[in-house]
Amino acid sequence: MTAVVPDGVVGDPRYADMIVETPSEFRVSTRAYTDPAVFADEMRRVFESTWIYVAHESEVAQAGDYKTVNIGQQPAILTRSQDGKLNVLMNACRHRGSVICREERGNSNSFRCPYHGWVYENTGRLIGIALRNGYPADFGADIEGLHKAPRVANYRGLIFASLNPDVPEIEEHLGWVRKYVDLWIDMSPGQMGRVLRPHRYGYHGNWKFQAENGFDGYHFRFLHESNNKTLDHFGVRPMQVTNNYLVAGRTRAGDNGHGVLEIGELEGMQPAVFDQYKASLAEAYGAERAKAIATRRHIFLFPNVYLMDMNVRVIQPLAVDRTEVYSHYFSLDGVPPIVNEQRLRDLEQRLGTTGLIGPDDVETFGSGQSGMRVTTLKWVNQARGLDRQTVLPNGELEGHYTDELPQRSLYREWIRRMSIAPGGAA
Ligand code: FES
Ligand SMILES: [Fe+2]
Repeated sequence: MTAVVPDGVVGDPRYADMIVETPSEFRVSTRAYTDPAVFADEMRRVFESTWIYVAHESEVAQAGDYKTVNIGQQPAILTRSQDGKLNVLMNACRHRGSVICREERGNSNSFRCPYHGWVYENTGRLIGIALRNGYPADFGADIEGLHKAPRVANYRGLIFASLNPDVPEIEEHLGWVRKYVDLWIDMSPGQMGRVLRPHRYGYHGNWKFQAENGFDGYHFRFLHESNNKTLDHFGVRPMQVTNNYLVAGRTRAGDNGHGVLEIGELEGMQPAVFDQYKASLAEAYGAERAKAIATRRHIFLFPNVYLMDMNVRVIQPLAVDRTEVYSHYFSLDGVPPIVNEQRLRDLEQRLGTTGLIGPDDVETFGSGQSGMRVTTLKWVNQARGLDRQTVLPNGELEGHYTDELPQRSLYREWIRRMSIAPGGAA
């Protein structure tokens, strides 16, 4: 058995044997889901050392717009200042540490700390110390303002931040998955798209249950059987169309922990509306690219976001066994309103809080955490399709729809980062 520890790095011995990969098996230690010490290291070595998705540009479109976010567990405020610039300010007052902004979103050029009233501009600059005359004359000269995330990137409207100044450029971080991200953004012909305010759900389980699930084609026939039978029964989608996913769909993986589940043609629109939509794509991009764009994908950008056909799903770890997820409807620009109306209805019906599919998944994440209370269960398996993946000319891996190919990619990146001594990973 060989532990996956990258060459040339100082391996942390506590993690060296948590993933086991051989030609015939791929196992993950259950401690990855249950051990609070592992969770604490994940926050440092994964969430604070790489790029984290924080928002879509449409959420902070106007000067003064802001949104509170988290990078791992560190609170921050994404702002757009008067100069049009995006700022990621750490949400901790320079006086005694209180969170200065408690709202989820809004528009303001400044923030006043609720505790003792210090005021900061939305660039982070400290502009007012309340009751200033109680301090020595030169007090505060060295306090510039709020701390900032050292790196912020905007990739075609997707905003990422990093607490690690040494991360590579965002294009390099996306790497092989970038072409799928481009296809996703191009669903809005020539424009950027918008996300709406999210619905959120929490579950009593580890964050990686959600990360593993979004590109898992294996469970669909089983966990979502009631959905599939209901749609078949009412003639909405015959069972053979559902079964077709299993033949035509693909899993895709590559470096950096990203992964893709490719499902088939976009759904959720009536045939006439879909034809109209496809025609507008073809006009903007040509027939071949239009076909590639009009494909349903769940694109995971390691470690915290899924770009799905209808929505953006952001994963927020809270504790080793508690996670919150924000699901934003992704509204297309440059398309007839009926396209968005039908897509939104479809999202509600499938993944909304009372949808036929989403609640099945959320329930199973808690169920996974409960199962792992069995102390004799030391390992879980991610080996499906290990012997039948294809390496494409560009190095990308392609697998059967039901294979655990992207999950393995996720865990290879996870163990790579967890094994590297702090400060050594970018
Ligand atoms: S903690 Fe913010 S003003 Fe005191
Ligand atoms: Fe599911």
